[in-house]
Amino acid sequence: MALIIGITSISLCLITSAIAGSPGDVLQLDYPNVKIAAQKNGTFLGQSGQNGDIYIQPKRNGSGTVMFDGYDLQEIIDIINNMPPIWRLHGHVGYSGTFEGGSGIAIPLEVLDPESQDVRFELVAGDFPTGLSIVKNPWRIQGIVPDEDAIFTFTIRALDTSDKYADAVFKIETLEVDQCVREMCHNNGQCNNTNTLRGFTCTCPTGYGGPTCDVSCNRTALGVANASVIPDAQLSAYLSRYLSKALDGRLSRTGNHWCGENANSWLQVDLGSQAQIFLIETAGANSTFYVKTYTLSYSTDGTTFDIVNDLNSTSVHTFQGSISAEYQSLPEPIEARFVRIHPKTYKSGYYPCFQVEMYGCCL
Ligand SMILES: *[C@@H]1O[C@H](CO)[C@@H](O)[C@H](O)[C@H]1NC(C)=O
Ligand SMILES: *[C@@H]1O[C@H](CO)[C@@H](O)[C@H](O)[C@H]1NC(C)=O
Ligand SMILES: *[C@@H]1O[C@H](CO)[C@@H](O)[C@H](O)[C@H]1NC(C)=O
Ligand SMILES: *[C@@H]1O[C@H](CO)[C@@H](O)[C@H](O)[C@H]1NC(C)=O
Ligand SMILES: *[C@@H]1O[C@H](CO)[C@@H](O)[C@H](O)[C@H]1NC(C)=O
Ligand SMILES: *[C@@H]1O[C@H](CO)[C@@H](O)[C@H](O)[C@H]1NC(C)=O
Ligand SMILES: *[C@@H]1O[C@H](CO)[C@@H](O)[C@H](O)[C@H]1NC(C)=O
Repeated sequence: MALIIGITSISLCLITSAIAGSPGDVLQLDYPNVKIAAQKNGTFLGQSGQNGDIYIQPKRNGSGTVMFDGYDLQEIIDIINNMPPIWRLHGHVGYSGTFEGGSGIAIPLEVLDPESQDVRFELVAGDFPTGLSIVKNPWRIQGIVPDEDAIFTFTIRALDTSDKYADAVFKIETLEVDQCVREMCHNNGQCNNTNTLRGFTCTCPTGYGGPTCDVSCNRTALGVANASVIPDAQLSAYLSRYLSKALDGRLSRTGNHWCGENANSWLQVDLGSQAQIFLIETAGANSTFYVKTYTLSYSTDGTTFDIVNDLNSTSVHTFQGSISAEYQSLPEPIEARFVRIHPKTYKSGYYPCFQVEMYGCCL
């Protein structure tokens, strides 16, 4: 009663209207977007509109308490704030699920915690399936289920900003499935169901590569142009023209081109590993310095080289070069790690200069 009288007396100067509301109301104060009401049946209502906040402050900058049915509300809030996170969706016995190998999954990691915005998750024990990982935004276990019959049991810890934590046990059962039932290999690749992570391998027909045979080898650069794929040390040359460096032989269409001294010169590319090569691209420096024709030799070990011949023939295959980019298919794909480009004819009285890229698939 005292409280109500207090508010009514203030309302005379601060609140524009203090009116009797609906019949059930004993008192209702309406200020724009704020409503305080005490109702006949005992309901006390404090309401703000326009997304305003409601503050209950016992004493401004003081040490007063807000009591709730005899309990200090602040003390209750402190206790809650000091509790570790509580797992949702996962009981104390843990979480379990069964998944087919090769399928993509995302298991949410959710906890209740006053600091829930900043809770993080860590694997603390157990056998975590390869192919899955713990990722954030939102926190979850995500990835491709390993294609094997197995049971993985592991523990994930939820930690809040005060490093209070709660652990939950996960049990994930994975099932080996025949991946080849679905069409996994493109371009008529042969599918082989295996027990590896991916669950299958593809044997690609000539001309196609990559894990699912979707890479067209004659359109895929082996990376001579890219120093992060084929480092400088993998380019070398024999009888280079004065100041010319083997790495100038990378196809860049700008800058210096590699120049040989004569028709005995060659530029060598070490692809780093065995590859199937379908196509070669060369570009000359300018209308004076370019290669008109060249030949290719190749090797697996860098010591013994074979020359590329015409198809089903013992005569050496001649490749055409030009001032601008010139693509030349090999008579048939070769398998090699080392390839040498031998300039044969060029403008007489000058030098053979060019840059090169090769196209194919890694083996
Ligand atoms: C009290 O009355 C109001 C209407 O005046 C009603 O909205 C409210 O639900 C009632 N409360 C209870 C506990 O009956
Ligand atoms: C209350 O304390 C805060 C800092 O804790 C200060 O900024 C504010 O001015 C104080 N208010 C009053 C009314 O003393
Ligand atoms: C299929 O894979 C298995 C195991 O990875 C291997 O032993 C087998 O030779 C493969 N079969 C074919 C046809 O590639
Ligand atoms: C690349 O290979 C595909 C398939 O073998 C063929 O259809 C295409 O014509 C080839 N492209 C070039 C530029 O050789
Ligand atoms: C060069 O290769 C690296 C590594 O594979 C790749 O990230 C980069 O995009 C390539 N650069 C160009 C220009 O293709
Ligand atoms: C042509 O290219 C060669 C080799 O890079 C260079 O030495 C020469 O100056 C160039 N000539 C012209 C006219 O650009
Ligand atoms: C080359 O020889 C193979 C068999 O070794 C044959 O199948 C193919 O038709 C021949 N190609 C040409 C162009 O003669």
